[in-house]
Amino acid sequence: MKNSEMEQDILKVLVTEEEIHSRVQELGAELYRRFEGKKPLFLGVLKGSFVFMTDLVRACQLKSDIEFIAVSSYQNATVSSGRVQIIHDLQQDITGRDLIIVEDILDSGHTLAFLKQYFLTKGAASITIVTLLDKPARRAKAIAADLAGFVVPDEFVVGYGLDYCQLYRNVPYIGVLKPEVYSG
Ligand code: PRP
Repeated sequence: MKNSEMEQDILKVLVTEEEIHSRVQELGAELYRRFEGKKPLFLGVLKGSFVFMTDLVRACQLKSDIEFIAVSSYQNATVSSGRVQIIHDLQQDITGRDLIIVEDILDSGHTLAFLKQYFLTKGAASITIVTLLDKPARRAKAIAADLAGFVVPDEFVVGYGLDYCQLYRNVPYIGVLKPEVYSG
């Protein structure tokens, strides 16, 4: 990984692999405490959550099932358009289910504000929002996570599922992208 083509585009490491692993174990344990005896549905928001989802469900040994929804509001831009599009919808009825929404980042809040309302109209019994990263500096919607892994500054972060133009999702840590990569 060191000195790979991707690595050369990273300005600095914001959260290391070890820090992520340790925090994900804590989040899994906390979810276990909150949902012990229940059967929540882990609902990952694609694409960004795909790495976090796989680690989080294994860190939380509940008898739970998983589901995904794919949305996009950035369309490869660096600022949210505010228009959230469903690209791949739920494949099951969520009426009466306790949902654990799994996100990689809560940024402007457009995505989660939209999804929370959408899942409520679909009949969810409860909604718990878990995000690996929380970037409060750019919040445009009044929405908060129930559990957040790390609060991050207003920098362009990639890795552990987060992309820039669909790249860097497989960087194993959270890194800050060099400005020259996205400014031309
Ligand atoms: C990213 C991320 C969240 C959302 C958060 O998704 O995965 O879903 O943005 O930003 P917000 O709080 O400003 O709405 P994106 O639309 O880039 O699609 P992706 O998950 O496929 O990367």
